[in-house]
Amino acid sequence: MTPIVVLTGFMGSGKSTVGQALSDALGVPFIDTDSELERRAGRSVADIFATDGEQAFRAVETETVTDVLTTSNGIVSLGGGSATVPAIVAALGDHHVVYLEISADNGYARVAGSDRPLIAGENPAGRYAELLAMRAATYRSIAKQTVDASAPVAQLVSTIIKGLPDAGWYASTPGDQA
Ligand code: S3P
Repeated sequence: MTPIVVLTGFMGSGKSTVGQALSDALGVPFIDTDSELERRAGRSVADIFATDGEQAFRAVETETVTDVLTTSNGIVSLGGGSATVPAIVAALGDHHVVYLEISADNGYARVAGSDRPLIAGENPAGRYAELLAMRAATYRSIAKQTVDASAPVAQLVSTIIKGLPDAGWYASTPGDQA
């Protein structure tokens, strides 16, 4: 099985929201790999980071994402750090990866005060901007399509569907955004 779309992008770029909306529009399953990882582990991402550390989290993340990529036939949204893991990038191969690009200001405004471990310390806004700058080129390099994540969700859904390799087929399928 192959996912129709794999969403990547930094924390707060709207991967889960857009993923759910895309899945509703196309009538296909949606899976958020962080939620799936938490379900399998019976623990939260924050707890795994705090107790076992980032390296252990990346190992569980790799296992979950590589598995989901072979079992999903719908929409997949990745955690923001998946693009930094070589084994995940290799597994992404030719998948239709879409990068939800967000500015540091807009993205941080959406995640400020959340329990995300990577921005839990001093100067979270600065850390957010720094990490985004470090990763931006990587997100772009793995993506087949890059979209402006600050656009309204309905617009993003339509833009992403139009960018699919089988866009014509989806446009003629009942229940889509056409
Ligand atoms: C991370 C992003 C988070 C989560 C973890 C690490 C990252 O996912 O996987 O906190 O390294 O950017 P979201 O992008 O869904 O917030």
